[in-house]
Amino acid sequence: MYIAPSLLAADFSCFAQEVEKAATADYLHIDIMDGRFVPNLSMGPQVVEALRGKSRLVFDVHLMLEHPLPYVEVFRKAGADRITFHVECADNPAQVIEAILASGAKAGMAVKPATPAEALLPYGERLSQVTVMTVEPGFGGQSLIPEALKKIKAIKEAFSHLLVEIDGGVNRETLPLCREAGADVLVAGTAIFRAEDPAAEIAFLRGE
Ligand code: DX5
Ligand code: ZN
Repeated sequence: MYIAPSLLAADFSCFAQEVEKAATADYLHIDIMDGRFVPNLSMGPQVVEALRGKSRLVFDVHLMLEHPLPYVEVFRKAGADRITFHVECADNPAQVIEAILASGAKAGMAVKPATPAEALLPYGERLSQVTVMTVEPGFGGQSLIPEALKKIKAIKEAFSHLLVEIDGGVNRETLPLCREAGADVLVAGTAIFRAEDPAAEIAFLRGE
């Protein structure tokens, strides 16, 4: 199980110190919001670029953007290793995937809780990762929606090469559900950055 602390729950006044709390994890999950696709704003490529020199983790950039296409290259240049965008976005998903692959990043696609697994079928072959949202995207600290986990099985059956990431409401209590559902990557914001001992939390979620 790979662990991806979500920077959205970090202390925004000191990102450089906060990323040290995630040092024993696998990915750093970075949520990018445009105030249109989701009703919130978060951070931009400058933050990704500023942190690139401070962390050796895989930068897992989650684009919650209505129009991700013009930003693929921007985030790749800023230091993204994996770029995930939403199947529900307003751009042509196939085109966005090709732009991500052309940039040299690994491509991921995310699905909102109500979007069925079938929406991914035309694209799965070209992807490395699928992010199953277990909360409505836009905010950290929400409760996991268990029904959203059901689609993981169908995704894995259709594409055995894909890593499935679970994003939203992952913590010690919901960990068994996530494991059972077949998750490969766990995103956790609140559970890790608000913990007294983030390294212990990372180890616990990983099953150590
Ligand atoms: C929600 C974001 C999540 C969020 C998870 O739109 O995509 O990555 O930071 O936060 P927690 O772990 O607090 O639910
Ligand atoms: Zn996210």
